[in-house]
Amino acid sequence: MALVTTKEMFDKAYKGGYAIGAFNVNNMEIVQGITEAAKEEQAPLILQVSKGARKYANHTYLIKLVEAAIQETDLPIALHLDHGDSFELCKSCIDGGFTSVMIDASSKSFAENIAITKQVVEYAHDHGVVVEAELGTLAGIEDEVQVSAEDSSYTRPEDVQEFVEKTGCDSLAIAIGTSHGAYKFKPGTKPQLRFDILEEVEKRLPNFPIVLHGSSSVPQEFVELINKYGGNMPGAIGVPEDQLRQAASMAVCKINIDSDLRLALTASIRQFFAEHPEKFDPREYLGPGREAIKAMVKHKLVDVLGCNGKA
Ligand code: G3H
Ligand code: 13P
Ligand code: ZN
Repeated sequence: MALVTTKEMFDKAYKGGYAIGAFNVNNMEIVQGITEAAKEEQAPLILQVSKGARKYANHTYLIKLVEAAIQETDLPIALHLDHGDSFELCKSCIDGGFTSVMIDASSKSFAENIAITKQVVEYAHDHGVVVEAELGTLAGIEDEVQVSAEDSSYTRPEDVQEFVEKTGCDSLAIAIGTSHGAYKFKPGTKPQLRFDILEEVEKRLPNFPIVLHGSSSVPQEFVELINKYGGNMPGAIGVPEDQLRQAASMAVCKINIDSDLRLALTASIRQFFAEHPEKFDPREYLGPGREAIKAMVKHKLVDVLGCNGKA
C-alpha cells in the first residue's frame, strides 16, 4: 500500500458515522505507538506534521518514518500538513510527498482566507493532493501563534457554503468550542461543544467532511501522574469523549489529537524517572512511553472515533 489521500477514508467515514484519527507526529516512538495501535485495530490513519514538527524532525526523516509505518502495517495512511500557514509551506509539502495539506488562513479576513485557500487548492489538486481549510478561530496555541479565548470565534454556518464553493477545498475545519492544548475549559464550568452549529453546517454542506481540531480529551489519569511526579498542570481539562463520539457520528470525519499523545508520553517518562532515578538508557524510558501512546490511541480508535476495523 502507498500513501493515500483522505478522499476515500472520508467518504466511508461520513457514510459510516465514524471519524478518522489525525495524530500529530514528531519522532519515531510517536509514529510507532500510533501505527502499532492502528495496525492492531485495523484502522485507517492520518499522520499529521505541523510546521514545528517539520522543523524539529526534518521533512525527510518524517517522510521515511511514515513510509516505514506503511510498510509495517499495510494500512491506508494519509500524510497531512497540519496548520500550513502559507502557500509556500503547503507547496513544499506537496512537492515533498504529502498527500494532504491544511491551509489555515482562519485568522485572516473572509476574503483573504478564500483567496489563499483557493491558491493552495489549485496547486494541490493539480498534484493529486487534497486540502483542508478552516473557518472560525480556535483558542489555544498552534505553533508560535497563541489565540486567547476572547479572540476565538465560532464558525458562522451562513459562511460555509460560499467558502467551500469559492475555494474548492476538500474538507473544512470548524470552531464549535474545541481549542488547542491541555486547558480547554475553565475549571468548574461544564465543557459543551456547540452541536447546533455543527448541525447547521451539515445542513448547508451535505455529504461534506468536517474536521475538528483541538480534540484531545486530556485524560485525568495522565494529568494526575504528571502532577504526582513533579509536574504542575492543575486545571488541565479536555473535550469529553462522549461529545467527540457524537461529533464523529455526525459530519465530523477527522478528529485531531496531539496533546493527549504528549500527555501520555510525558506521564510515562515522569513516572519512569521517579521510580528509576538511577537509569539513563533512552530505550528504557522511551519504550514505555511508546506503549502508553499505543494504549491511548487504541482507546481513541475503538471507543471514541469508531474507526476500528474500517481499514
Ligand atoms: O495544533 C497544533 C498541534 O498540536 C501542533 O503543535 O505546532 O507545537 O507542533 P505544534
Ligand atoms: P489538541 O491540542 O487538542 O490535541 O489538538 C491538536 C490539533 O488540533 C492539531 O491540529
Ligand atoms: Zn489544530
